[in-house]
Amino acid sequence: MEIITLSEAEINPELDAAIRKSLCLVFPDGISTFSKTRAWHGSVSSWTHCIENKGAVIAHLGVVDRSVLIGEKILRIAGIQGVIVLPEYRKKGLSDHLLAAAMNEAQRRGFDFGLLFCLPALEKVYARCGWHCLSQRNIIRVDDDGTEKPLPQKNIAMEYPLQLNTFPEGDIHLQGNDW
Ligand SMILES: CC(C)(COP(=O)(O)OP(=O)(O)OC[C@H]1O[C@@H](n2cnc3c(N)ncnc32)[C@H](O)[C@@H]1OP(=O)(O)O)[C@@H](O)C(=O)NCCC(=O)NCCS
Repeated sequence: MEIITLSEAEINPELDAAIRKSLCLVFPDGISTFSKTRAWHGSVSSWTHCIENKGAVIAHLGVVDRSVLIGEKILRIAGIQGVIVLPEYRKKGLSDHLLAAAMNEAQRRGFDFGLLFCLPALEKVYARCGWHCLSQRNIIRVDDDGTEKPLPQKNIAMEYPLQLNTFPEGDIHLQGNDW
């Protein structure tokens, strides 16, 4: 199945609606957000990879372009958001193909690392695609009301090396909310 890669400006209202429909199906707790926007916590994707079949978006992820303070350095981070495969299309490795496309594009665009947040149960999905768990790190996000908060405890963070190989030591300040 063909992966479509589009910058945010190339996403027309029909595709936007089709992606949001699939996000609502897979993340029912996120319906109040995804019925209006694909931007989780206000973070708009810089570009998007998706797979369509029979008029539906059956697999999707977005990539946000963020400057993140890690230790004492600001790094250019390709943040992965909205990773979904519709239930009837799972177990075919579609998310692996989307993640590979996203990281190839991020490498081409000169990003330092990929970064994502997920449930521990999903670590294996990302690990099989070359992502590494960032354990024992303070991760600070800025909530919509401006207060600094830790990453929700249910989530882990994972990184993918791009222009840089070794993820720096130290706290990770997202300089905005998580995505
Ligand atoms: C994550 C996802 C995109 C992977 O799809 P895929 O490429 O088809 O991957 P697979 O189905 O081959 O593998 C996914 C594995 O993660 C598990 N998994 C997926 N979602 C899970 C969840 N919410 N909680 C626990 N385990 C989950 C599956 O059971 C499967 O494990 P198994 O192979 O041991 O059975 C798809 O499972 C999905 O859309 N999940 C719901 C949305 C989601 O949680 N997205 C990730 C946000 S970080």
